[in-house]
Formats: sequence, C-alpha cells, structure tokens
Amino acid sequence: MRRVFIGGNWKSNGDVNFIKNHTKNVINNLNFDSQKCQVVISPTNLHLELTRSLLGKNSKVEISSQNVSAFPDGAYTGEVSAKQLKDYSIEWTLIGHSERRQYFLETDDVVGKKTKISLENGLNVIACIGEKLGERESKRTMEVCFTQLAAIAKNTNDWGKVVIAYEPVWAIGTGKTASLAQAQEVHGELRNWLDGKVSKEVARSVRIIYGGSVTESNANDLITQVDIDGFLVGGASLKPGFKTIVESYKNKMI
Ligand code: PGA
Repeated sequence: MRRVFIGGNWKSNGDVNFIKNHTKNVINNLNFDSQKCQVVISPTNLHLELTRSLLGKNSKVEISSQNVSAFPDGAYTGEVSAKQLKDYSIEWTLIGHSERRQYFLETDDVVGKKTKISLENGLNVIACIGEKLGERESKRTMEVCFTQLAAIAKNTNDWGKVVIAYEPVWAIGTGKTASLAQAQEVHGELRNWLDGKVSKEVARSVRIIYGGSVTESNANDLITQVDIDGFLVGGASLKPGFKTIVESYKNKMI
C-alpha cells in the first residue's frame, strides 16, 4: 500500500533564529514510523543546508527545495539547477506550486520542463496542481486539474519519483479547507485519470496528497479518505501542531 507522505512547505518564511528553534523543537521531535510515513520539509534554498545541519543525526526527515530551474546549469542568473540540487544531496523539489504559477507566471509548459529536468537528474518531485475559486464555481475543477496533470504526466518517465499534490487554490492560506467529500472526489478522479491515461499500476501506487489549510484539527479526518495519501502543509508546518499533523498517518487504514 501507499506510504503516507507529509510535506511541510515553509515558503519564504523564517530567519536563522526561527529555523534553528523550529527544527530543534518541532522537526527533531516528530514521532513517526518511516515504514508507514515519509516526512519532507521545504525551507528556502538559503536555509536548506542550515536545516539539514540541524536535523538529528538519525533523522528520518527529508529535505526538499521549493523550486528548481527549468534550465540546465549555465547562464541563468538567480536560478538553481536540478543537477546542482542533486549534487548537494537535496533529493526532492516542489514543482508548480500555485504561488509560482500566480506570481512567477509559471505555465504548464514550464511546469512540464521542470518535471522533466528534475527527473532526468534523479530528483524526486512533488508536483502541485489545483483549481482557482472561479474555476470551481464554473464547474471546471477537473478540466483544470487534468490539464495540469497531463503536462506533468507527459514529462514523467519514472512515477516512483513523483508525488502529486492537489491543492485547490481557494483553500491555500485562506483557512478554507476542502470538505472531505470535495477532496476525496478530486483525488479519486485524478487516480482514475492516471488509470486511464498512464497505467493501472501507476494509479494504484502514486501518492496523491492534499494541500490547502491543513491543520492539526482537520488532518485526522482528511487522512481517512481512501485516495488522500498525505498532505502538503504550508502555514501549519511552521507551528508546533505540525507534529500532530504528521502523527495523523496513524489514522490511515493501510
Ligand atoms: P497552507 O498552504 O497550508 O498555508 O494553506 C499550503 C501550500 O501552499 O502548500
């Protein structure tokens, strides 16, 4: 069965002091069975090494960048390439987060390129998709999600290295979580899409995680949904309650 995946997306938050305190007090005190649950945290690129150096020696927590260049090494000022991340032993990257799509104008084409170059360089990918409020209201949720997923699928040759994060944009940072039924419905349809367009095996094995105002109060319920394999947590991953969110994997019937 699928191992629960809990991601903590720290976004552009935190100074050195915060990173030190939060890693020592919260991240290093997470209690989970790594056979059943995988935990991956994403500090800013600036804080990747600091965070890693603070993790306990036998820590099972893994680290991800929040972004990756769509280009190889070279004259691309300000970018960090997939090859450089891998060389630095950063094993994961987030791709296609809605904030990157919204503020940095990342298109499906760019998301596809980032997926391809990351996988070619051996990185694991957390690929984010999700509809905006207007799209949900005009009943275009699945059309939007399938289009975004198709751009990722087209560039994926190793599904063992991909986690799909479904994050309805209207639920990110707003305190509005999708209801259990709303989240399960989309996750189920995404899995059906993978079954039809990729393979039964990929549909069965790929982890599809939910993101958007996940907190310690709703994680235990959301995780019970059959097609929800974990979470991508923003705001609440910066708080002590992240520990409770991680422990929600115990509620998963696997
Ligand atoms: P949130 O963010 O948990 O603060 O809503 C989730 C995300 O953006 O990944």
